[in-house]
Amino acid sequence: MKIDRDAPIGVFDSGVGGLTVAREIMRNLPSEKIVYFGDTARVPYGSKSKDTVIRYSRQIIHFLEEQQVKAIVIACNTASAFALDAVKDELNIPVLGVIEAGAKVAAKETRNKRVGVIGTLGTVGSGIHEAYLKQLDPEITVIGKACPLFVPLVENGHFDTKVAELVTAEYLEEVKKQNVDTLIMGCTHYPLLKKTIGAFMGESVTLIDAGAEVAKELKRHFDKNELHSQVHDKKQYQYFVSDDVCSFSELGGIFLNKKIDGQVEKIDIEKY
Ligand code: DGL
Repeated sequence: MKIDRDAPIGVFDSGVGGLTVAREIMRNLPSEKIVYFGDTARVPYGSKSKDTVIRYSRQIIHFLEEQQVKAIVIACNTASAFALDAVKDELNIPVLGVIEAGAKVAAKETRNKRVGVIGTLGTVGSGIHEAYLKQLDPEITVIGKACPLFVPLVENGHFDTKVAELVTAEYLEEVKKQNVDTLIMGCTHYPLLKKTIGAFMGESVTLIDAGAEVAKELKRHFDKNELHSQVHDKKQYQYFVSDDVCSFSELGGIFLNKKIDGQVEKIDIEKY
C-alpha cells in the first residue's frame, strides 16, 4: 500500500499527558498535521490490565485509521508497553511506541550499565524496558520503580513544589542508592517533573525523555521513507477526546507548553 505523505500523523494517549509527546513531534516535524486522541473518559491506563489497555488501544487505532493517518505514535507509555506488540502487525502504516525509543538512547548513554526506569504500575510491571535494554546490551542492569502518584501530582500543578520534592525523594531514594547513571522517564507526565527529578538524582544522572526520543525517531523514519508532508495546512492540529472538552483544553496547555491551537472535539470511542 502506498502511504499518502500529506496525511496527518495520529498520536494517542490515555489523556492529556501525551501532549508532551505531541509537542516534541510539533517541534521536530513542524510542517506535519497531527490528529491527537486523548482517552480522557477512561484515563488512567497505568493501573489497568493488559487486556483492557489492548482493547482500548485497538479502538483508538480504528478511530485514527478512519482519520486516514499516515503513521501512529503511541504516546502513552502504558499503552506502548502493553499494546504495541499486539497491534503493530495489524496495521499497514508505521506505528511507533515510546518505550523502544527511550530504551535505545538509554543503552547508548549509560556508562556504568545501570539504568533506572520510572513509570506507571503497568509500564514498570510489564518489564518491557528491561527486555529491550537486555536485548541491546545483556550487561545492563535495570532498576524499575513505579511512581503512581506522579500523574495526579502533575495534573494538579505540582511540578517543582515542596510536595513534588517530597514524593520524588520517597520514590527515587532507592533508585538513587542503586547508583544508576541513566534514568528513563517512562511516562507522559514526567517531563514536567524533570527539574525536580533532576535535582534529586543529581547532575551525574542522565534523564531520558522517551517522548522526545520517539519524535526524533519518527523524523528519521520520515527522512528514510520520504514521508514528509509537502503541503502546509492551516488547520494543522486536531484534538479528539472521550470526555469533557473544556477540561482537556485547560489542562492541555500545560502539557503542550502553549495554548491548544486547534479544534477539540468529543467522540464516542466505544463505537470503534
Ligand atoms: N499516559 C500514561 C503513561 O504514559 C500515564 C497516565 C495513565 O496512567 O493513563 O503511561
